[in-house]
Amino acid sequence: MFITLEGIEGCGKTTQIKDLAAFFEDRGQPCVVTREPGGTDICRQIRSILLNPSSKGIVPTAELLLYMADRAQHIDRLVKPCLADNKVVLCDRYFDATVVYQGYARGIDTGFICELHRLVLADFKPDITLLLDLEPRVGLARAWQELNSGNRSDNESRFEAETISFHEKVRAGYLELARLEPERFRIIDASRDKMQVQADIRKVLTEVLD
Ligand code: TMP
Repeated sequence: MFITLEGIEGCGKTTQIKDLAAFFEDRGQPCVVTREPGGTDICRQIRSILLNPSSKGIVPTAELLLYMADRAQHIDRLVKPCLADNKVVLCDRYFDATVVYQGYARGIDTGFICELHRLVLADFKPDITLLLDLEPRVGLARAWQELNSGNRSDNESRFEAETISFHEKVRAGYLELARLEPERFRIIDASRDKMQVQADIRKVLTEVLD
């Protein structure tokens, strides 16, 4: 089973994905936690180009193609082999992030992005996508707190430095995707305490799995 977590910066995906791994392990289901960009050695090199503030001048198409390159490598070398081994794959961001960040927020035609995904990855989609929904102002404040406290490297702050209206487009884009594919998406209110969010995610997944 391929499960993805999505949401704006600071929505708590990284914390929640660790709990999800524990949830699957308790059920005796082997699972792997990974992320995009940056799920393999080569992908980590691509990630450093994409997230470093020094890449500010990158043009939207080059940015899009680097996310696609990261994904092609990651799916082929990590995700598909793990799925073939009957492992649950928990992935922090995937293709929906490309549609909302490079499409809805940067303005690249979403039809073109979906076509590229069909050509490069045969339209490979997750079984379930958990969307951790949150007000951009709240999420960005949390994300900057993490960066300023040194818990995250400021070599990875290129997207946090985008305007609030960029992040509002990202949030609206995600909600639109969830509306278009209600069977795949589950929307989780990420504004609450992390234990409440965790309980909600576990409940949703228990329903899906049972
Ligand atoms: P994160 O690992 O902290 O979530 O950072 C990844 C950043 O990359 C985040 O700001 C969203 C952005 N991103 C895209 O713009 N397009 C994509 O396809 C993906 C996977 C991430």
